[in-house]
Amino acid sequence: MGLWAGRALLAVALGMGIPAALAQTRFPERATAFADKPAVAVGVAWYPEQWPEERWETDLRLMRETGFNTVRIAEFAWSRMEPEEGRFDFAWLDRAIAAAKRHGMMVVIGTPTAAPPAWLTQKYPEVLRVDENGARAGHGGRRHFSFASARYRDFCRQIATELAKRYGHDPAVVGWQIDNEVGPPSFDEESVAAWHAFLQKRYGTVDELNRRWTTEYWSQHYNSFDQVPLHATGQQNPGLLLDFKHFVSATWTDYVQNQVRAMRPLIDARAFITTNTMFWNAGFDHFQMHQDLDLAAWDNYIQEGRPDWVANGANHDLVRGYKQHNFWLMETQPGRVDWAPVNRALDPGQVREMAWQAVAHGADAVLYWQWRPTANGQETYHGAVLGQDGQPNPIQPEIAHTATDLTRAAPLLADTAPAADVAMLFSYDSRWAIDLQRHHKDFDPIKAFTDFYRPLRVQAQGVHIVAPEADLARYRLVVAPNLMVLTEPQAKALEAYVRAGGHLVLGPRSGMRDDADALWPQRQPGPLSNLLGARVAQYYALDESVGITGAVSGKAAIWAEDITPVARDVQVLATYTDKGGWLDGKPAIVTRKVGRGSITYVGAWLDPATMAQLATSLLADAGVTPTVAGADPDLEIGVRAGGGKRLLIAINHGKTAHALALPAGATPAGGDWADGQVAAHGVAWFTLGRDK
Ligand code: GAL
Repeated sequence: MGLWAGRALLAVALGMGIPAALAQTRFPERATAFADKPAVAVGVAWYPEQWPEERWETDLRLMRETGFNTVRIAEFAWSRMEPEEGRFDFAWLDRAIAAAKRHGMMVVIGTPTAAPPAWLTQKYPEVLRVDENGARAGHGGRRHFSFASARYRDFCRQIATELAKRYGHDPAVVGWQIDNEVGPPSFDEESVAAWHAFLQKRYGTVDELNRRWTTEYWSQHYNSFDQVPLHATGQQNPGLLLDFKHFVSATWTDYVQNQVRAMRPLIDARAFITTNTMFWNAGFDHFQMHQDLDLAAWDNYIQEGRPDWVANGANHDLVRGYKQHNFWLMETQPGRVDWAPVNRALDPGQVREMAWQAVAHGADAVLYWQWRPTANGQETYHGAVLGQDGQPNPIQPEIAHTATDLTRAAPLLADTAPAADVAMLFSYDSRWAIDLQRHHKDFDPIKAFTDFYRPLRVQAQGVHIVAPEADLARYRLVVAPNLMVLTEPQAKALEAYVRAGGHLVLGPRSGMRDDADALWPQRQPGPLSNLLGARVAQYYALDESVGITGAVSGKAAIWAEDITPVARDVQVLATYTDKGGWLDGKPAIVTRKVGRGSITYVGAWLDPATMAQLATSLLADAGVTPTVAGADPDLEIGVRAGGGKRLLIAINHGKTAHALALPAGATPAGGDWADGQVAAHGVAWFTLGRDK
């Protein structure tokens, strides 16, 4: 039995009122570093520093009554922890953590470095962030520091060290969050110097940089690294702009690791270290950021309050892919946000749906943001569990229902992870390179990715999203919607996957450029064109759709490529109809068998119905079958498997009940399942017998 379990049972024995459902959780011995926490954490961001201490007990009691077992604290409280330079005050935090413990809460501590105190930025203004136009940030908001500032990093290391020394062996502290949603880069002098050092390390010599960026263009030639300007936008060489993203990725990763390195030796190995990230954030390479973190965590907000379950699910799958492991949902909204153009609240039932969706996609924690709005401060309009009077908001019973269900289902969920036979490749380089030169204003790489993902997820009922370098052997089908930047090693690994019997599908714009954003000398798909036995003769931005006819038929819009087969065994699956145009009669989709595997190239952005037909045939060819046959598109199906278990989760995102044809061996385990149907906005879960 782990420490947490021991402490929880002791608390129960002492009559401290651990939530009943939590106390029943068996906390099975798990083969992970985090052996002593419940399989599912449910909780909230709590800011004790913002409230009188007399209120803490009431808040914690209400949290417990809501079914919460976890609080995340401290991530913006630097001015309370260190009111003056070098003078630390953790007494209040000691008391807050002790109070949380008395109520049976697990604690995640955030390092407060997203919000440097006024004394720091006043005395050391050089730590302040400078934007691309040269304007220096001031105090009063957050994230107003430079990610490259050595002095700022010293302060970060110090506060992180103090926290780790004090709470690193506290059994209630199950995890650590570094900073909060890192992101905006800085253009101050230290950042410029770091940029030059980065380029030197990447290219070795300035001649190599000149070669890779083709700087003979417009007299861009550099004689030394220190001549290279630091830019994120504007009319710059695409090689420079892509390397800017690489630089930002490396700098943020190192910024986070600066704190991790200080904390690791001071905290128990069972506690995780993570950072919380934002949805589809293009700021830095999240695969790189997570290499030396223990798990991924992210903040899922439905900006307009109208969830598109498939698109949201894709983001969960991407986060799972950062470490190819279950993750934490570190923040989600109790109803609404406060930063959308219209901050519409989710409909009744949807907060619960979104929590279960996260779990179905691999979340082992669901934490709400936030507990209660403060009297003032920038976020008083945001959704919260309590109102300003300290009493529950109308959303509280739904959250309590969710928390109770998740805690009840925790023993079933323990040691399971989302199952999938299909993987999609997400490449930050490709996303950035497309965004830098879209060639068609509507070629939004995330929309293009999601259009591929949608029918695959709906039909296959499980898709993993992974980096192009990931080990793909376990997947029957691998789809890379727009793998524009493709390196030689990536191409080799993909070829090996196909030769070993895998089915690889490349979408438009794939294999066009290398990782300095330079065109490959051969036509698309560049280093994979020999394997495909075909090449893209020309690409076209479309202002009107063109027809697609063949094994799938319908329309293509925005983008279309004319593919020329070269090898004799290449099969043309569909051609264009484009009377009087360049594309008329030209191949749009080609495929080639390679042993038991295959490589397919889809040259056009297909409309949703055509994409759905294509997904059906790709899944059939790869032998992928859904767990539940004939599910309504409003019904999200997910399977979590592991530890000898298989669990089916069905979430009805629709406004009416939907029939669910249970697979053989499925046994209802909980939720809104009656008369063969899942209720409107309902959730139901079932055991499916033993894992394969
Ligand atoms: C997140 C942030 C939180 C809070 C929340 C409101 O991005 O991490 O601190 O601001 O948004 O939606």
